[in-house]
Amino acid sequence: MGRMAWLVATAAFLAAGWAQAQEEGQIVGDPARGKMIFQTICSHCHLTTNQRSPVGAPGLMDVTKRRSEAWINQWLQGPEEFAKRDEIAKKVIASTPTGLIMPAYPEMKDPQKRADIIAFLKTLRSEK
Ligand code: HEC
Repeated sequence: MGRMAWLVATAAFLAAGWAQAQEEGQIVGDPARGKMIFQTICSHCHLTTNQRSPVGAPGLMDVTKRRSEAWINQWLQGPEEFAKRDEIAKKVIASTPTGLIMPAYPEMKDPQKRADIIAFLKTLRSEK
């Protein structure tokens, strides 16, 4: 296969995958957009290392290893609300040394923005 044909085939393959994901109703997160949201909102409290920040927020390196995407998706919609029905969320809040509780952000009501943030959080991994 020539180089051009290969490029066309690859593009067609990627487009088909994207179309299928849309059809199945999945939202495809964009890590670059997620990074921008992170810098605007989340970085006020969180570090992208494994260090807790001065305000007491846990470092988000490897957070997608210790928590499932479904868990993070629910957490982002309202940490305190979620903690009423989830034991892990309750423990995460109880273990914050400063007593700070993460607020619910209006932007995180948007499923696309949550998917973007989660796609970005997945890039924060100490080893692949
Ligand atoms: C005002 C400070 C603050 C902001 C801003 C903030 N958080 Fe948090 N976050 C916290 C704190 C504090 C915790 C620990 C739990 C608690 O006490 O509420 C936490 C916990 C988390 C957790 C759970 C971590 C774990 O180890 O289980 C995730 C995931 C998270 N935040 C993601 C985000 C994302 C994504 C954003 C941006 C949309 C964000 N946070 C914005 C303060 C903040």
